[in-house]
Amino acid sequence: MKNPLNDTDLLIKITKKYSTPVYVYFEDIIKRQIHKLQTAFQKLPYEIHYAMKANENPEILKIMHQNGLGVDAVSINEIKRALTVGFAKEKIIYTPSCPSENELKFAFDRQIHTHIGGTEYFDFVINNYPDTAIGLRINPGNHIGGNQKIATGHNNSKFGIPVNQLDIINKYIDKGLKIDSLHLHTGSDVKTWQDLARSIDVIFEFAKHFNQLKYIDLGSGFKVKYQAGDTEIALKAYADYIQSKIDALAYPIRIKFEPGKFLVSDAGVLLVKVNVVKQGFDKKFAGVNSGFHHFIRPMYYDTYHEIINLSNKESATEKYDVVGVLCEEDTFAHNRYLSPVKKGDILMIRNAGAYGYSMSSIYNLRDKPKEVLVSMSGIKLIEN
Ligand SMILES: Cc1ncc(COP(=O)(O)O)c(C=O)c1O
Repeated sequence: MKNPLNDTDLLIKITKKYSTPVYVYFEDIIKRQIHKLQTAFQKLPYEIHYAMKANENPEILKIMHQNGLGVDAVSINEIKRALTVGFAKEKIIYTPSCPSENELKFAFDRQIHTHIGGTEYFDFVINNYPDTAIGLRINPGNHIGGNQKIATGHNNSKFGIPVNQLDIINKYIDKGLKIDSLHLHTGSDVKTWQDLARSIDVIFEFAKHFNQLKYIDLGSGFKVKYQAGDTEIALKAYADYIQSKIDALAYPIRIKFEPGKFLVSDAGVLLVKVNVVKQGFDKKFAGVNSGFHHFIRPMYYDTYHEIINLSNKESATEKYDVVGVLCEEDTFAHNRYLSPVKKGDILMIRNAGAYGYSMSSIYNLRDKPKEVLVSMSGIKLIEN
């Protein structure tokens, strides 16, 4: 497949038609990523639930739906959107973090299967929904994830039920609590499958305490490439390891995965325009018409995102800090070498398809960016 991200003429054409800042998503790349997962996991009894928090645009959700995926939702509005797009309730799983009882009620009343992340919710479930089976989000006490802010399975994390609360779980099972599945998600951008495997060891060990479960949801964490020389997670080796765990369990079990980033990160770019190139004491700044109100990952998670000057194909480079318009520290890249930048140039920020628009805001009362989808049926503006 020709990489559409190299099609500078197309990208510039999109900025002329729709102006900047604009997120551009490529359906072909999403499908390529789905295919990669399906190929790696083909021998497993598995299902994929796209973590819609990564990019909840209805048109992106439709692509997932058309390709047979389910979704993982984390809020009432995400559930509502998934239902509106056409996902059957059986294709939606709900993994909220510290929800109110009303939020749980919303899901239970619609028979959306829910992963409960605290034993403190068990009384609510037993008293109000005694016949409904729940999943348990387990915290395996495994410190992995690209950085501290996206590590969610360690001893100090708010997420999940610590594995050492098994006795509490058993007490509630005796009282009639129905548990049909286990879940974990120990972090994003996990570097190796061996790191993920440490969590898997814990959850499969935990699963032995149950007579029969329908599935184990292994969450996600699948790392993507952000720059040349970067690695993606070795999915096939990971799948083989999971299979060995399934084989060793005394009862048959299905597996669920909840990828977000893996499916949409590389499929999206943010195109921004240079408002000004200004000289600081020592540094040169490329000031663009965007900021962390559009794309917060570089500032919040310190993530590296490749930036390309689409308006200048020269191979010579100069060093810039690429900064935004907010009255804040909103630096997209420090000391980055780009082909020489001038006012009006279009810069492409890569790997912006996940946690880009979905984490955007109207801070400083500035508008949100537009979103455009490039697919077989053409190029269109997509409403969020
Ligand atoms: C419960 C849960 N599942 C899945 C994901 C998706 O993770 P990723 O985007 O790394 O694939 C997240 C991300 O935060 C999550 O919290």
